[in-house]
Amino acid sequence: MADYIPDNLFLQDALTGLAQPQPEIPSKYLYDELGSMLFEAICVTPEYYVTRTDLEILDRHLPDISACIGPRAHVIEFGSGAGVKTSHLLASLEQPAAYTPIEISAAALEASAAHLQRQFPALRIQPLAADYTQPIAPADLDICTDCQTRVVYFPGSTIGNFTLDQARHFLRRIQAIISAFLPEIRGGLLIGIDLLKPLEVLLPAYADPAGVTAAFNKNLLARMNRELGSDFVLSQWSHAARFNSEHQRVEMHMVSERTQQVQLGGQTFSFAAGDSIHTENSHKYSLRGFSEMAARAGLKLEQHWTDANGWFATCYFVPQEPN
Ligand code: AVI
Repeated sequence: MADYIPDNLFLQDALTGLAQPQPEIPSKYLYDELGSMLFEAICVTPEYYVTRTDLEILDRHLPDISACIGPRAHVIEFGSGAGVKTSHLLASLEQPAAYTPIEISAAALEASAAHLQRQFPALRIQPLAADYTQPIAPADLDICTDCQTRVVYFPGSTIGNFTLDQARHFLRRIQAIISAFLPEIRGGLLIGIDLLKPLEVLLPAYADPAGVTAAFNKNLLARMNRELGSDFVLSQWSHAARFNSEHQRVEMHMVSERTQQVQLGGQTFSFAAGDSIHTENSHKYSLRGFSEMAARAGLKLEQHWTDANGWFATCYFVPQEPN
């Protein structure tokens, strides 16, 4: 299985992004092999409450969640990660019918699918190497004849990394996927949402004192040097996490520590001290704001579960009935 990455797209995206008034690189490029390992390391830092809280909510409410989803579910996971949450979810479901993990990296996909297959030998697992932010052919998902529910599982609040427009568009696509076989096959979306919270909690989660998030962010520049032949001097860039209150999101930036020039793809990009390259958005939502956005995409909040602090929500949406 080959990775799904069109040739040269990284170079085109980097050249376009660096030419913007606020230079930027799309956050999906943070996740090469090293970046994915660094992200796994972020997930276990004490400050990064997201993964821990998502898993705690899932574990605490598994019986309820599984009752909501119902028997013979086909679980479609967008971005299959390390599979821990998925294995807890699948283990709690009543006779799960099938599992489709969708992920760009074929290597990560194969490893997590093989691991889950050992755990659930009878489960039909059909991994799909694809960019889940792009349309998916319905035939690739039509893999079980006997399932009763098709549920898209999107944990970890990855939707927070999309712009609001991308999130709206994405929710509409999911609505179409889970409504395609109504009423024979019911549909649902089980999604993790990171909620708004005090900055004293939020900012350290994206700027841990051990510097794991800084290494994750800096790896993007190192990756550009490795793969695109740019000449970023890594010691002259530092990591910053900022809360943008207008857009209600944490932003990651790489900040230039001095006046410097960077060569990429035959072009020169100039930076003054303090200029930054915007590398990621992580939107934080209120449950109400997110539900309203989902409603505009034709999805109704059926049930939700949160932690004691109200930091994170796991939500189950179903297609709205037509008026
Ligand atoms: C993957 N995503 C949900 C993470 C987040 O919290 O936005 C990515 C991340 N970036 C820095 N730390 C974690």
